[in-house]
Amino acid sequence: MPRSKSAPKDRVSRIVGSSVLVPKVTPKTFYGHGIPDIDSNHLTGKLIAVEGADGSGRSTQIARLVQWLEASGHHTVQVGLKRSTLVSEELEQAQQGNILARTTLSLFYATDFADQLENTILPALRAGSMVIADRYIYTLMARDLVRGVDETWLRNLYGIALAPDAVFYLEVCPELLVQRVFAKNQSLDYWESGMDLGLSRDMFDSFLRYQGLMRDTFRRLQQTYGFDIVDGERSPDAINAELQSRIEAVLAGR
Ligand SMILES: Nc1ncnc2c1ncn2[C@@H]1O[C@H](COP(=O)(O)OP(=O)(O)OP(=O)(O)O)[C@@H](O)[C@H]1O
Ligand SMILES: [Mg+2]
Repeated sequence: MPRSKSAPKDRVSRIVGSSVLVPKVTPKTFYGHGIPDIDSNHLTGKLIAVEGADGSGRSTQIARLVQWLEASGHHTVQVGLKRSTLVSEELEQAQQGNILARTTLSLFYATDFADQLENTILPALRAGSMVIADRYIYTLMARDLVRGVDETWLRNLYGIALAPDAVFYLEVCPELLVQRVFAKNQSLDYWESGMDLGLSRDMFDSFLRYQGLMRDTFRRLQQTYGFDIVDGERSPDAINAELQSRIEAVLAGR
């Protein structure tokens, strides 16, 4: 007798038994001028941004969220900084050489963001997908703000951005961040230590100061943009449980 090609029984019952929560469509807005000719009523998916410093646990949480969402029947699409097909390689090269002036570097990052917004985020939302962003405009703004870039100019620049359905900022103190980054990479990154700012000649010391400034700036941006500050110093399980329940509320349109 030929072997059955159908799914094993336990798998079938899990699929049949679990109900997929269809995301409730809620109105979407751009922060400013947005992108012309986009009807936000057609953006039926959800955009969720996970923010946080290097080593704050974004990848750890995103991997779990994607697994959970996909298992619950949602198609997911992931985006992140320096991932555009248009300029990501050039941006990496420019940073290696430390050759760009501040404004040009800002515009380069904004271009990378705009490319992903137009070509990945918006089409995915139109198709009803869950888009998970590993960092969003807030990191870009915070990095520039600590370097003295004008806030009004930045807000105007990122007026192109779609306001996400949820933003989670994983807050971890600089002392814990440094331990995690060392354990993971055995070194500190020049830019994530803010070495270009001349805060200290010692990279370790510079990292602590720079990440402290970034945290202060994030807290300030939170007051404008109203995102969720999540205590990232707890266990991955505890953080994940909080994110899941908040995302369930987003899916239910609450
Ligand atoms: N809640 C947590 N508690 C303790 N360690 C954690 C926690 N979350 C992540 N880690 C560990 O910290 C390190 C950094 O985590 P992860 O790679 O998820 O962070 P990230 O924010 O994505 O960092 P990067 O900016 O390098 O992409 C990893 O070694 C990870 O295993
Ligand atoms: Mg990561």
